[in-house]
Amino acid sequence: MVIVVFFFNFHHLQVMSCPDPATTNCTDQDRKLLEFPLNLEYLEAEFFLFGALGFGLDKVAPNLTMGGPSPIGAQKANLDPLTRDIILQFAWQEVGHLRAIKKTVKGFARPQLDLSKKAFAKVMDKAFGVKFVPPFNPYANSYNYLIASYLVPYVGLTGYVGANPKLQCPASRKLVAGLLGVESGQDAVIRGMLYARAAHIVYPYGVTVAAFTDKISDLRNKLGKAGVKDEGLVVPKFMGAEGQVIGNVLVGNEFSLSFDRTPEEILRIVYGSGNESVPGGFYPKGADGEIAKSYLVTVGRVGLDKVAPNLTMGGPSPLGAQKAKLDRLTRDVVLQFAWQEVGHLRAIKKRVKGFARPQLDLSKKAFAEVMDKAFGKKFVPPFNPYANSYNYLIASYLVPYVGLTGYVGANPKLQCPASRKLVAGLLGVESGQDAVIRTMLYARASHIVHPYNVTVAAFTNKISELRNKLGKAGLKDEGLLVPIAKGAEGKVLGNVLAGDESSLSFDRTPEEILRIVYGSGNERVPGGFYPKGANGEIAKSYY
Ligand SMILES: *[C@@H]1O[C@H](CO)[C@@H](O)[C@H](O)[C@H]1NC(C)=O
Ligand SMILES: *[C@@H]1O[C@H](CO)[C@@H](O)[C@H](O)[C@H]1NC(C)=O
Ligand SMILES: *[C@@H]1O[C@H](CO)[C@@H](O)[C@H](O)[C@H]1NC(C)=O
Ligand SMILES: *[C@@H]1O[C@H](CO)[C@@H](O)[C@H](O)[C@H]1NC(C)=O
Ligand SMILES: *[C@@H]1O[C@H](CO)[C@@H](O)[C@H](O)[C@H]1NC(C)=O
Repeated sequence: MVIVVFFFNFHHLQVMSCPDPATTNCTDQDRKLLEFPLNLEYLEAEFFLFGALGFGLDKVAPNLTMGGPSPIGAQKANLDPLTRDIILQFAWQEVGHLRAIKKTVKGFARPQLDLSKKAFAKVMDKAFGVKFVPPFNPYANSYNYLIASYLVPYVGLTGYVGANPKLQCPASRKLVAGLLGVESGQDAVIRGMLYARAAHIVYPYGVTVAAFTDKISDLRNKLGKAGVKDEGLVVPKFMGAEGQVIGNVLVGNEFSLSFDRTPEEILRIVYGSGNESVPGGFYPKGADGEIAKSYLVTVGRVGLDKVAPNLTMGGPSPLGAQKAKLDRLTRDVVLQFAWQEVGHLRAIKKRVKGFARPQLDLSKKAFAEVMDKAFGKKFVPPFNPYANSYNYLIASYLVPYVGLTGYVGANPKLQCPASRKLVAGLLGVESGQDAVIRTMLYARASHIVHPYNVTVAAFTNKISELRNKLGKAGLKDEGLLVPIAKGAEGKVLGNVLAGDESSLSFDRTPEEILRIVYGSGNERVPGGFYPKGANGEIAKSYY
């Protein structure tokens, strides 16, 4: 039953109107808001490049540093093959993000970064209020490195959510939506990997992985001085999605939307000082760009029917949906997604009137038809999404990604700041769901799905190819393994997150999405999961 709620993603695409006529000019404010995140993108690029390769931008893309000083104390981490593989993908994605931002705004040189063991150890000591002996070393092993990585992309994600409503120009909003999609995905991949190991006790501190994430999130809330906008992997039930679960693989507010942060809040956190005018932490000399500098200058230095019947608005119950046979971790994670989607429905309906649930077909047969089409042959026995965790995750691969690309496509067109805030919050969590599903599949990419003699990776490739074919808008979808030319910066064939040539999330129009979810390749010909067509003015305008 839980899968039902994934399918509501699509409804989110209804256009939201805003009374204020908006400017189409890119303003100076846009430029400042786009330049500010360079501070975080530099830090992530260096931390991930060094962690995976033992060297950074000075070697792989010296032009992008614009002559800024080399980072202090960054080094290669001692990582297991899967972690290293994924971190290397993130590293190249960050290089793409730096290029993408600098293509749009002039930017500034790499600020002085402190990525030494000592800088990380200080954060951990502060988070726990004790001095760890030996000091926490982010580079010592995969656990430590993932915990250290938990520190960063999430802050970037909240910053993009915060900036989006303020951006005037469609081109700026397109860039930010693409960045937000992939940053949120990185955060979700890291959280997904940590979540699977939440109960592991980190040597020699006798503290679980979950407790580390809790303490780090508490510290960030304290430093940010803007209430609770950060949550660990396990939370009190009332803070979980819809107040129903304690697992918290993705962070979200009471509507399961991503939290937003202002540049001031972000500076307080990354400086570790709780004061945007007092540099320190990873930025010993402060961050760069007009926004960050303005603070330095001032101090003279540089299953719906049952759980929420109201939300269905009386629409018909879905066909053929059933409980899946899942292992514990998969069920736990999927249940969180289910409640997050309930929150999203509430959030959207608070902002717009919305419409009743359309007729959905979630039967085994509907999924089997998609798989047969993807592979161009009839599977015997037919593919059953509910049979086990592998099948269910492969079926789940079908959905959040399409919603994500839809939000990226809608963002540049939204006129009203409140609409953009909503879409950024939705985008952050949808992208996270897609990333968690992809991570779980990625860790099992070479598993052969019984009885089809086809690997998990091949399933994802065929599904992505089918979506590209149905969408009729070129390549906007990629499986878990790609030709190296299509990997991040053309350097890797692992593809835990999909992205364009600058590692930005792809965008799709409502027409493209309808062609895909109808399975017909034609936005006027309903079918697939929507036997009677989708609802809402946009979808209805086609039939
Ligand atoms: C956009 O900028 C142009 C040129 O500076 C100006 O003529 C036009 O009025 C501006 N449009 C809006 C909507 O601000
Ligand atoms: C780096 O900049 C130099 C000088 O502007 C240019 O000639 C070179 O092609 C650039 N290299 C890359 C990899 O962009
Ligand atoms: C932040 O630091 C500046 C400079 O030291 C100081 O003037 C200001 O009072 C501090 N703000 C807070 C809220 O502590
Ligand atoms: C459902 O709607 C009814 C009538 O509008 C309202 O009284 C009730 O509180 C709602 N229930 C929930 C759970 O929102
Ligand atoms: C499974 O697929 C592989 C590669 O496509 C092939 O070599 C092998 O013979 C197949 N095995 C079975 C049992 O069909």
